[in-house]
Amino acid sequence: MSDKKEFDRDSISNTLIIAIGLSLVCSIIVSSAAIVLKPVQAKNEEAFRQRIILDVAGLMEPGGDIDTLFASIETRTVELASGTYKDDADMEATVAIPDQLDLAGISQRAENVDVYLVTNNGRVEQIILPVYGKGLWSTMLGYLAVAPDGNTIKGLRFYAHGETPGLGDQMDKESWRAQVAGKKIYGDGDEPVIRVIKGLVQEGSAGSEHMFDGMAGATLTGNGITGLVQYWTGPHGFGPYLKNFREAG
Ligand SMILES: Cc1cc2nc3c(=O)[nH]c(=O)nc-3n(C[C@H](O)[C@H](O)[C@H](O)COP(=O)(O)O)c2cc1C
Repeated sequence: MSDKKEFDRDSISNTLIIAIGLSLVCSIIVSSAAIVLKPVQAKNEEAFRQRIILDVAGLMEPGGDIDTLFASIETRTVELASGTYKDDADMEATVAIPDQLDLAGISQRAENVDVYLVTNNGRVEQIILPVYGKGLWSTMLGYLAVAPDGNTIKGLRFYAHGETPGLGDQMDKESWRAQVAGKKIYGDGDEPVIRVIKGLVQEGSAGSEHMFDGMAGATLTGNGITGLVQYWTGPHGFGPYLKNFREAG
């Protein structure tokens, strides 16, 4: 009989060593992949954001190079409370939204927010504002394009939400997106009056310039759109900023 202990591959200690070793190797692979892929992911997210901004501005061309197209868009930071540009803004600073003003259901917002200006020979042609708020099931994130009169809507495009396909996602349809163009955010005052109605807008009827089409079977998502658009164009959102354009126009 040999003194040598026989190697028992099924022993408990051996199983544990293999299991722990395998877990370690796997976690190193996963962590490394996450670190290596992070810049790629950030670049893709940025390209996606730029594509949506170009899309809401009507500048997205099939097969177009996003970097080249986006070069015509100027990014500026707006201090919402004053409605003025602030270049060295603290982008982490937030402010609580009082309940009675929280039409978007978001509780707090950044003090300073980036907006995107489509310019042509130094003249602003469109102001693109990030907007978001609660729908029925989810927070809906999008961009609102406004004409330089600070009142006329050029586009509204949501790029992320979790509303029900076929019901609450009707704002993604080409036909719904087309009918928002030309609508007016404000009436005589500084409070936005634009809203999603129930049913389809009868063009030419009283106040129709302030109405978006309703979405059949999805009134609650529609109410969410009304709330978020009114919040972000209201006095606690981009209201003061848009007022500067209205007064200048
Ligand atoms: C499974 C399920 C999913 C629904 N998803 C949505 C939705 O995403 N958005 C929405 O507004 N309503 C949704 N609804 C319908 C709402 O409960 C509600 O009935 C509807 O918003 C009322 O709109 P109407 O007055 O146009 O019918 C859903 C209902 C069910 C049963």
